[in-house]
Amino acid sequence: MLFTPYSIKGVEIKNRIVRSATYEKRADIDGLATDYLVSFYKDLAKGGAGLIISGNALVHVSGRTVPQMVCIHNDHYIENLKKITDKVHKYDSKIFIQLVHGGRQCYPQLLGGELPIAPSAVYDPSTKITPREMTNEQIWEIVDAFGHAARRAMQAGFDGIQLHGAHGYLISGFLSPHTNRRDDYWGGDEARRLHFIEEVHKSIRAATTECYPLAIKINSSDFIEGGITPHDSVKIAKQLQILGFDAIEVSGGMYEAGVKTAQTNILQKEQEAYFSSASAMIKKELSIPVMLVGGIRSLSKMQELLKSGVADLVSLSRPLIREPDLPNKLMAGKEKADCISCNGCMRFQKLDVVRCTQLKN
Ligand SMILES: Cc1cc2nc3c(=O)[nH]c(=O)nc-3n(C[C@H](O)[C@H](O)[C@H](O)COP(=O)(O)O)c2cc1C
Repeated sequence: MLFTPYSIKGVEIKNRIVRSATYEKRADIDGLATDYLVSFYKDLAKGGAGLIISGNALVHVSGRTVPQMVCIHNDHYIENLKKITDKVHKYDSKIFIQLVHGGRQCYPQLLGGELPIAPSAVYDPSTKITPREMTNEQIWEIVDAFGHAARRAMQAGFDGIQLHGAHGYLISGFLSPHTNRRDDYWGGDEARRLHFIEEVHKSIRAATTECYPLAIKINSSDFIEGGITPHDSVKIAKQLQILGFDAIEVSGGMYEAGVKTAQTNILQKEQEAYFSSASAMIKKELSIPVMLVGGIRSLSKMQELLKSGVADLVSLSRPLIREPDLPNKLMAGKEKADCISCNGCMRFQKLDVVRCTQLKN
């Protein structure tokens, strides 16, 4: 099953292995893809992943989370991004771009000294920052920015889009009762907390086409008291399917929750796929494709997850930082990724680029 083709809204993917969105720190300071980044995507595409989800790409300057991230907040970026899509298509892979606004989890030093914006002014003990509550006008500006970014993605040749709706960034911030304390159109109860993603969805559909694939990565749990629980995430996922999303990737965590998204020392098979119970619950309720990310390391585990109906596709991040050609190696019979989940790659502030620190260069 792992190596049989699959289709997401008409996009034919040659196998069920997805490269989960991974920030690379390989754009230049203006957010333009460098030749180094393009060649990095060539390695991923040659390496055999059926679908590549790009590192998070910035839709609006107020949402910058990290330096040297790819940008898409201006038409100026379209031609540059084509270099990535052309390269990936040349090597017989497909690519979705991940669109992000960082919301509460942006650092003022990346925002010209300004405090980040968020649904509500909820202090984040991990960054020690209290963001500014967004005005209605600011919210509509960002809704619009997602639409424009999606149109640019289509013009640049991406096969589809994935919205970053997980990990405590802006979309996730609106969905979570912990970070969304508003009592207006944008929050106050479950239905109103969904309005932001509903409006973003409308904005993207208006700026692209009905048939352009639109996926979303969500939290199965925020791992915060008062945040999204696995039970809530099933309800959210069902609503997202009703809205018209074409695929869902199941993840979890936010900065404040500690190391939940990319858990460490996944060395035994029993530790793998740490969001699989939530994914199974979500998949049971949905008819659209479900991708599962988080600690998936071995060929036999991947096959089990697909066979037992926990997910339709398996998604990998850290293992492909270490071995971009892991999918080809798995196809040749390799049982397990070399990645030891040490999270050296996450200490990117100290690294020139995101890379595996277990390897010499
Ligand atoms: C260096 C690094 C950068 C990441 N960047 C992103 C990102 O841009 N967007 C995103 O949704 N997740 C990002 N993640 C999280 C991964 O996509 C994934 O959810 C997490 O690492 C767990 O999967 P894994 O065990 O296969 O690494 C990043 C993870 C790492 C290690």
